[in-house]
Amino acid sequence: MTARIMDGRRLSTRIISDLKKKVGILSKKGIVPRLDIILVGEDNASKIYVSNKIRTSEQIGIKGELHKFPEKTSKEKIIREIKKLNANEKVHGILVQLPLPQHLDEQEIVDKIEPSKDVDGLTTYSIGRLTTGNANFESCTPKGIIRLIENEKIKIEGRNAVVIGRSNIVGKPISLMLLRRNATVTICHSKTKQLQEHTKNADIIIAAVGRANFLKEAMVKKGAIVIDVGMNRDGGKIAGDVDFDKVKFKASYITPVPGGVGPMTVAMLMENTLKAARAKL
Ligand code: GUN
Repeated sequence: MTARIMDGRRLSTRIISDLKKKVGILSKKGIVPRLDIILVGEDNASKIYVSNKIRTSEQIGIKGELHKFPEKTSKEKIIREIKKLNANEKVHGILVQLPLPQHLDEQEIVDKIEPSKDVDGLTTYSIGRLTTGNANFESCTPKGIIRLIENEKIKIEGRNAVVIGRSNIVGKPISLMLLRRNATVTICHSKTKQLQEHTKNADIIIAAVGRANFLKEAMVKKGAIVIDVGMNRDGGKIAGDVDFDKVKFKASYITPVPGGVGPMTVAMLMENTLKAARAKL
């Protein structure tokens, strides 16, 4: 058996062209959606992600504004910028690209974003609403994963889902979203003992570890659905967290890297930004 590839590039292209039409209609009503991104420091991956987000915004008709700060910027300066954007009526979405440099407390800074503009869904407020099942903005990577799964009409209810990784960006929110859809969710992490015993029992595996080719064929049950959130450099190559070339012969569905979850994250950010702008109607 070879797994069906869950093509995030194709699905995100479809979503983006649909968003473009909706943004056009909203713009004609006098509201041009605007997304402001704060980037601090010189992290190369972050620069690529951010330029992708700005480029996609512009492609859709969303105004994308980048606010770039040097590595050593103080927290006060960044918070001042966020407050300015909170107060600016033309700004609908604000995103602080992570990771931030070491001296900055990420959650403290992200929490300064006004909840109605938290299109990345990472403030304590947004995560709280997600937890109680009343999400306003769902964080973009987990939202993109759910969309990929739903696009294949895969049933989530009653399935055993194993999430590897407990980050605030992916592991925790995707666990909550799967739980909300009535999966039985196990969250594994670096201190989990006998990881394989958990993953071998999983109908759905979400690998968000940050280590190239971490999830091996022997860890996967035949017919499992495998979602790879990894984006690692393996020598000169981009590699996911899943040993794709082997696992694809065991799984029933699998996401590629690149071209799986990554493009979906950007599409979901655009969708959230449109939602934030529409709230102004
Ligand atoms: N860094 C990597 N992925 C993300 C994301 O989805 N949002 C933010 N803010 N930073 C990230």
